[in-house]
Amino acid sequence: MSYYSRFYPFLKPSLPRMTGAALLVMAVALLNLALLRLAGVLWDLITVARDVSGMTRAIGLFLGLMIVQGLLSMGHSYLTAQVSQRIMAGFRTHVFAHLQTLSLSFFAKRRTGEILSRLMNDVNVIQSTVTETPIDSAKQVVTFVGGVAFLLYMNWRLCLLILLLLPILVLVARFFGRRLKALSTSIQDQTASITTLAEEVLSGIRVVKSFVQTGRESRRFASRIDQAQHIALRRAAVMAIFVPTITLLTFAAAAAVLWYGGRQVIDGSVSPGDLFAFVLFAGILIGPFGSAARVFAQIKEAQGAMQRVFEILDQQPEVQDRPDAVDLPPISGHVETHHVSFAYDPRQPVLSDVSFEAKPGEMVAIVGPTGAGKTTLVNLLHRFYDPTEGAITIDGYDLRKVRLESLYRQIALVPQESILFGGTILDNIRYGRETATEEEVIAASRAANAHDFIMATPDGYRTIVGEKGVNLSGGQRQRLAIARAVLKNPRILILDEATSALDSESERLVQEALDRLMEGRTTFLIAHRLTTIQQADRILVLNKGRIVEEGTHASLMERKGLYHYLYTLRLAEGEGLEASGERL
Ligand SMILES: Nc1ncnc2c1ncn2[C@@H]1O[C@H](COP(=O)(O)OP(=O)(O)O)[C@@H](O)[C@H]1O
Ligand SMILES: [Mg+2]
Repeated sequence: MSYYSRFYPFLKPSLPRMTGAALLVMAVALLNLALLRLAGVLWDLITVARDVSGMTRAIGLFLGLMIVQGLLSMGHSYLTAQVSQRIMAGFRTHVFAHLQTLSLSFFAKRRTGEILSRLMNDVNVIQSTVTETPIDSAKQVVTFVGGVAFLLYMNWRLCLLILLLLPILVLVARFFGRRLKALSTSIQDQTASITTLAEEVLSGIRVVKSFVQTGRESRRFASRIDQAQHIALRRAAVMAIFVPTITLLTFAAAAAVLWYGGRQVIDGSVSPGDLFAFVLFAGILIGPFGSAARVFAQIKEAQGAMQRVFEILDQQPEVQDRPDAVDLPPISGHVETHHVSFAYDPRQPVLSDVSFEAKPGEMVAIVGPTGAGKTTLVNLLHRFYDPTEGAITIDGYDLRKVRLESLYRQIALVPQESILFGGTILDNIRYGRETATEEEVIAASRAANAHDFIMATPDGYRTIVGEKGVNLSGGQRQRLAIARAVLKNPRILILDEATSALDSESERLVQEALDRLMEGRTTFLIAHRLTTIQQADRILVLNKGRIVEEGTHASLMERKGLYHYLYTLRLAEGEGLEASGERL
């Protein structure tokens, strides 16, 4: 229940409209009852009274009421949709905004698909339960109360009989309905797994053939098809029983009413029109019963959905501004780490006692085998995470004591795979600084070796990239990312294997751009390109989370330690430092 009260603030602004929608739908339900009653009267006018002018008037009234009902119904539908869309939009936006405040640790622990499902599916479930269900219930209540009142007034014995039969009918239908739904879900799962298998085999057909595994794959496929068939047949069996059963039950109920009521019509105590109306009223009572049964399931489902969404909303960012945090003033870029240790998971230390200094404008290369903790270290420098022990300072400011935004604005990160967002090239570069003029964007692109290829795209800077846009090569994307960083003009620059995924031609263009970008900035460079590393003012050799060597290229070569080993291996094999390090 507490989830519902927490949801209330999102509902509150829309309550007047929601009430309006409920009132409209109640009026629709009332008119519906009136129309059914009128149908009975009309029937008597035709069959008993044989009154033409009365019949004409009744039909006229019928049509008039229908038109009014239609208009009210339009208003109700639109208002309901409006309320429900508004509430959902507000709530979803809130969840999304909150998601963005959460720290990287949150996203590292969860699969994106699961977060998306909460943001989209769960919010949808909540939306319909919280907005559409109450409005619909208002309608069902009117139908039920009005319907039962009329039936009781007409014939209370028959009414009790109906109130006994209808729930049975609804329960049977729900029983089958649930079975069918479960089976349908598992058929969908099966179909998905068959598709995946087929896709896997067909796209890897070379391997399958070469290892002579076609027989095995066919057997695997056949066994899944078999399972799917089995479930499909079970569903068919349930369907085969369901439809005749429910039809039979409905007819049995109708027959009971007709038999009882028919005798009264025959002995003259009830008019044919009243019996007709009676049957119609009994019929519409199925609605409220069915909906009551559904509402319980829905509330349960919505509770699960709310739990999942509020679980996200209850997450506090691990890295956040302290109440007394200050803005980091424009920095010169003097970075120090003091005995920094870090672990994603307390049982597994990733960095231990890391201390080093980077003076303003220096270029610090971080080398070491895969898994040594290089990315983790730069994540800490960027304050995506806080150290478990020790401290990091920039220009003497402890990172934990400054406002995150004021820090982030002075750092730029170029990762291995650069991210482009759906939009134009111009938008993507402006991500670095929204207020940049077009001239500044072009200047940044020139510095990033990107201007020429941008001009060669169909619409130049207005070309759409990202999801539905033109395909750019890895090197081109990387140069856009660099242009973005140039525009941001940070004091501290982090390059995490920015050229690792590139072929040597685009690597040259990207490297040139990077060299320009690094000039005069404190740069942390994770790379395996020897010539770049050699130019570093300082090289940190990281192994298993510790700095094992530190110095310039020349001094480290002289030491003949890990760096020397990695370097000579690399020269001998013509491979990356990183790759050869893997074998340590
Ligand atoms: N988000 C994470 N959660 C848990 N462990 C992680 C996470 N990211 C990296 N690690 C672990 O931390 C260690 C260092 O990883 P990383 O810093 O990425 O190394 P490098 O960049 O040097 O290859 C590895 O053992 C890796 O498995
Ligand atoms: Mg890494």
